[in-house]
Amino acid sequence: IYDWYRTQRETEPVCRDELFGGWRVLRYSDVRRVLSDPDAFGSARPAGRRGREGVHDPGEDTMVRSDPPAHRRLRRPAARAFTPHLVEGMAPRIERLAADLLDGALAAAPPGGDLEVVAGIAYPLPLAVIAGLLGISAERGEEFRAWSGAVVSGGTGSPQDRAAIDAMYAYFTSVLADRRRSPGTDLISRLMEDGGEGEPLGERELLNFCALMLVAGHETTTNLIADTVLCLARHPEALDAVRADRALVPGVIEEVLRYASPVQAMVRYARRDVTVAGRLIRAGEVVFPSLGSAHRDGAEFTDPDRFDITRQYGRNISFGHGIHYCLGASLARREADIVLRLLLDRLPGRWIVTGLDFDQGIQRFLFAPRRLSVRAG
Ligand code: HEM
Repeated sequence: IYDWYRTQRETEPVCRDELFGGWRVLRYSDVRRVLSDPDAFGSARPAGRRGREGVHDPGEDTMVRSDPPAHRRLRRPAARAFTPHLVEGMAPRIERLAADLLDGALAAAPPGGDLEVVAGIAYPLPLAVIAGLLGISAERGEEFRAWSGAVVSGGTGSPQDRAAIDAMYAYFTSVLADRRRSPGTDLISRLMEDGGEGEPLGERELLNFCALMLVAGHETTTNLIADTVLCLARHPEALDAVRADRALVPGVIEEVLRYASPVQAMVRYARRDVTVAGRLIRAGEVVFPSLGSAHRDGAEFTDPDRFDITRQYGRNISFGHGIHYCLGASLARREADIVLRLLLDRLPGRWIVTGLDFDQGIQRFLFAPRRLSVRAG
């Protein structure tokens, strides 16, 4: 895909994507511009593009898919709850969870055998962290998996997906009732508090928020953790360097966010006729700002195809940019940081990839290894 991005960036930096029916925006400067201008490029789906009649899409009416002023109303209470303090407070718990998962995954591997990175830690850790954040039992892990898959499908998938979404709503409805009776210190309880500014969130909005957290906070972080292991296995000199100097850990995470872009592209809708890189995009058309391409744009990054953990960071837009900037960015960075440090301790030498499968279906939107196994070598 990176070769395609490069050719397109040079020849036709805003081009049609017939498969998904929209405009791909490929240069860094244009991607940033699209993300910075929610008046021209909205996140709410125009009426004609909403899900099928009678099928409820849990992603609808969440902050990611809304424009100001609704966006402000939905985001403000969540942003108030999502403080750096909250993330710091969770760190010891994340460390414990990650160490336990890694112990389990290493014990499950035959002596000298392969560590299943996705199944063993990259997938279950973010799920357990989100469950903890929402104050719900991690024992429902298997169900969460089905729910989150169903939410990603937009509620228009199979009857099983729809049944999973119904089960998810039933579950979160009982959680909300529970929190109303006895509030705790979790994110849901904090969201239900009346912040004193504006109308408190309604039941449906709270339910959609829970569904959003499940998806937003989960597979993206799985990808970041798996991508980190994959990048270091493929660039052993970087692995040696960070092993020798742990101060390089944050640089590794930032470079993985740039080089591998766990979220490859986002979706916007033109709210009026607008020109980008000389192309006229008409009101109502779909636009895909391509982070994966932007991060390899030579006009912004020197030697962009080189994995370089000593780059000056601060310019990657892996967590988006502007009013929709990811609420969970510091949490995701923290999880990846904790896992990488543990792996450096527990998996000596260089890392050899012994198994790798990508989720092909979503390849253009996420960089998502579904299975990754490595061996210390
Ligand atoms: C928004 C990426 C982890 C919660 C976003 C956006 C991106 C992103 C690109 C912007 C979407 C847009 O502009 O349309 C990522 C990546 C992650 C990650 C790469 C992990 C490596 C998390 C976590 C959480 C989270 C752990 C929560 C626990 C959210 C929320 C939004 C969001 C609530 C919507 C913000 C808004 O619309 O105002 N994320 N995210 N994300 N993210 Fe993340």
